[in-house]
Amino acid sequence: MIKFVLYTHILSATAWVGGSLLLFALGILLRDKQAQKAVYAHLGPIYGYFETFWLILLWATGLTMFFHFGIDDVMVNAPLSELAQLMQVKLMIVGLLTLLTIIHMFIAFKTHSIERTTLQNIVSRGSSMMIFLLNLVIVWYAIGIRDML
Ligand code: HEM
Repeated sequence: MIKFVLYTHILSATAWVGGSLLLFALGILLRDKQAQKAVYAHLGPIYGYFETFWLILLWATGLTMFFHFGIDDVMVNAPLSELAQLMQVKLMIVGLLTLLTIIHMFIAFKTHSIERTTLQNIVSRGSSMMIFLLNLVIVWYAIGIRDML
């Protein structure tokens, strides 16, 4: 059973991180402004629902494994252990990533098909860049935790 949970967690991670890599690549490689606008207008909402689905699954399966492997006990009873420290950092990064995702989506849906203000543009681009970078870091921490279980 827990193997299936891990499988779903890894599948969700590939979809979540893969989606963000693709959109990042599109932002860089699609130089034609008009084409970029059209692609984002159509793809944006689908991408938003797609990523939300996988992020919820990541939380659900991640928390299931967190309690199944007794990592909650380790964090309470041995907070200075390597496993507890790695998990603490991973949870902080995922928490920050989730918050940035909510902010990014809030702006995206609020300004879909209308002009954005300069501030909305900065926050939206900044948050997507942060999400992209945090995704690269989080996979590194995930491997570290796996090594200890
Ligand atoms: C963006 C969010 C997340 C990503 C991209 C992610 C990614 C991953 C990946 C790729 C692995 C497999 C590592 C390996 O097999 O070497 C993994 C394992 C794990 N994740 Fe996550 N994760 C995320 C969120 C979470 C959350 C929110 C939790 C807990 C609350 C969590 C708990 C775990 C645990 C306990 C394992 C180890 C399970 C095992 O190896 O048997 N993850 N994660």
